[in-house]
Amino acid sequence: IGLQREVDSMLTDYLTRKRANPNGFPNTAFSRSSSTDSFATDDGLFDHLETQASPSIAMEKFIRRRNLQLRSQQETWQESPEGLKMLEFRRSLPAYKEKDSLIEAISQNQVVVISGETGCGKTTQLPQYILESEIDAARGATCSIICTQPRRISAMAVSERVAAERGEKMGESVGYKVRLEGIRGRDTRLLFCTTGILLRRLLVDRNLKGVTHVIVDEIHERGMNEDFLLIVLKDLLPRRPELRLILMSATMNAELFSSYFGGAPMMHIPGFTYPVRNHFLENVLESTGHRLTPYNQIDDYGQEKSWKMQKQFLRKRKSQIASSVEDALEAADFRDYSLRTRESLACWNPDSIGFNLIESVLLHICRKERPGAVLVFMTGWDDINSLKEKLQSHPFLGDPTQVLILPCHGSMASSEQRLIFDKPENGVRKIVLATNMAETSITINDVVFVVDCGKAKETSYDALNNTPCLLPTWISKASARQRRGRAGRVQPGECYHLYPRCVYEAFADYQLPELLRTPLQSLCLQIKSIRLGDISEFLSRALQSPEALSVQNAIDYLKVIGALDEKEDLTILGRHLAMLPVEPKLGKMLIFGAIFSCLDAILTVVAGLSVRDPFLTPFDKKDLADSAKSQFSCRDYSDHLTLIRAYEGWKDAERNHSGYEYCWKNFLSAQTLKAIDSLRKQFFFLLKDTGLVNESLTACNKWNCDENLVRAVICAGLFPGICSVVNKERSIALKTMEDGQVMLYSSSVNGREAKIPYPWLVFNEKVKVNSVFLRDSTAVSDSILLLFGGNICQGGLDGHLKMLGGYLEFFMKPDLACTYITLKKELEEIILNK
Ligand code: CDP
Ligand code: MG
Repeated sequence: IGLQREVDSMLTDYLTRKRANPNGFPNTAFSRSSSTDSFATDDGLFDHLETQASPSIAMEKFIRRRNLQLRSQQETWQESPEGLKMLEFRRSLPAYKEKDSLIEAISQNQVVVISGETGCGKTTQLPQYILESEIDAARGATCSIICTQPRRISAMAVSERVAAERGEKMGESVGYKVRLEGIRGRDTRLLFCTTGILLRRLLVDRNLKGVTHVIVDEIHERGMNEDFLLIVLKDLLPRRPELRLILMSATMNAELFSSYFGGAPMMHIPGFTYPVRNHFLENVLESTGHRLTPYNQIDDYGQEKSWKMQKQFLRKRKSQIASSVEDALEAADFRDYSLRTRESLACWNPDSIGFNLIESVLLHICRKERPGAVLVFMTGWDDINSLKEKLQSHPFLGDPTQVLILPCHGSMASSEQRLIFDKPENGVRKIVLATNMAETSITINDVVFVVDCGKAKETSYDALNNTPCLLPTWISKASARQRRGRAGRVQPGECYHLYPRCVYEAFADYQLPELLRTPLQSLCLQIKSIRLGDISEFLSRALQSPEALSVQNAIDYLKVIGALDEKEDLTILGRHLAMLPVEPKLGKMLIFGAIFSCLDAILTVVAGLSVRDPFLTPFDKKDLADSAKSQFSCRDYSDHLTLIRAYEGWKDAERNHSGYEYCWKNFLSAQTLKAIDSLRKQFFFLLKDTGLVNESLTACNKWNCDENLVRAVICAGLFPGICSVVNKERSIALKTMEDGQVMLYSSSVNGREAKIPYPWLVFNEKVKVNSVFLRDSTAVSDSILLLFGGNICQGGLDGHLKMLGGYLEFFMKPDLACTYITLKKELEEIILNK
């Protein structure tokens, strides 16, 4: 359609101009951009057209020409020495043998499910096979292939790889698009994007006009976006019979997807991997020189005591650990064992990953084993960072001439991510510390050893208490197999599982799909904005549908924040929120920040909340770090204002070229601050795109506005994340409506206060461990809560009062309702007078 429009407008332009000036009208006047030159200066074509006045023939000819160009570009590249090498590599991949049958299946069926061992060439090759076959069929210039990836890092890494395989720069025939970032050109025919990006496109383009192939990758992960996308695509297929849908997964569970799409054909790419030897905790101990000691024989009293406390703690948490694993641990009596290393005593604690244990395994590999890279699976960014610090302080592992330690995490800068794929210098051992994203979506070629901690951070959602939790949980058998498989890529490998075999046996077969374990607010907002009908009815058509209660909670939440009205229709606020690729609460904060002219400050808060906390708390220097943080707090009882100050200070320091010293002194992560900085810019341009701001970022109401206004906007976003504060003699009692008594993390600036002179705290995140903890908070006054808490855009002030009434009653503050009524009257008067 883009092409058609382009051709049409050029023709009209040409004809009008030529009619106006029949003599001496140079053809070169049409040379617009290099990519259309060949078309624009084609004299014969235009002459022909003028007599025929037939744009469709022009179009056809143009398309044929582009297609030939695409083909000859590839041919030239494949004849060059590098191109030839690349081609040979591509042909060596297992997917290559199946190329013809895959293409055949795709052309014969609207939906095809393709599975294959990780690394066999699904992600990098299949989209190219489709592109190549379209070029062969002279459709190269008109096809549009979209391949979705669950993560930004894989969309970026894969598109880069594919462009390199084709000897092109990014943005020629291959491009990528991830949240707030992307490179693609007008000739881009193959686009790698995150699943979220495709969903967002569906917002404005329900039929995916012009798209010829949709490839949904990594569906076995059962991410929420992927499950959601599948429902939408299933509805779309009958409306777009020529659209092709290809589902790709690692070798698991293909039948489930095939039957969801009415028995779509399944294709399998047989792969080859070298055998990998499994070492479970029992064997790991043996080979690393640890031994198991029954805990009652431990003579070190301190250790014994702490182990006992851990056991008590575990009992409390029992309900949260997969019960089968718990039972297995009980049965094997593993609870009563502690591990004794040669040098020191270290507990194997099923609830935390023993860094000591990982360290000894790594030492064992580096000293005793053959060459080859090591891939360590950790649970998250915090763990990776702490472990990296610990390893780097080790005399041997920390020596960069011997060992290269590389973290690998989704929110890393892309230049850093690239390092993990490079071969280290001879004699240097590469150790990559990664999260479960290294299980399937990225491939590090030279891995021979895998260390698997057995856990992954998983969001889980307790619908009854309406509390999301992000906790490390045991992985599934499928994940454990997948992790092990990463070791056998280039030669036989070894996998060290840091848990006993009995625990493995007790793992669930597959992980629970994300749709069943996360809050559904953003998803419900999307369902409404793509006009997919009734939320509950729509979600009941998912592969596995979420609990009715979770859906209801999400709808209620969206009503409370004013994104949905009583009839579950989108409000104006809701419509704006759906356009912003952030959680609804953060979107609301941005919108309010723009409206109330305190955007500069709010951008920092929102960027900080969507990246992570830049304040570091190293184990051994926790007190120092905490007091460094409290310097920024200026006793204003807000982690969010503290963040703004730290960020502003860093910006000043950067200007004086002392950013690093500043971070070092104040226990701040320069990397995180940089990420916040770039996200701030991206959010700003997003708001500008939606028309909510029109100044430039530098002019955008700098952080000099009323601090209470910033509090108010934070409150507008975070409500109903609110807890009441009662200052007692020696302590502070905090209460939320859902959880009752709650606590503050000591890393929060409010966590160390003896008194908080405000009646309320609003918070972004609460975490349920044994009790409920608030991670971050900002103190707000009654009037801020009354005016900004909840649904002030919608349902008028009366609706707002009704909703707040419930909260005020619960917190036993009926007098506030009176204040509210007075405020409301005053406000109404102001509004009437204006
Ligand atoms: O998607 P799948 O796991 O089946 O494999 P892939 O990502 O298409 O990767 C196929 C092969 O390409 C891998 O085995 C790697 O050898 C290679 N590859 C690479 O060298 N560099 C990348 N960034 C991605 C893949
Ligand atoms: Mg892949």
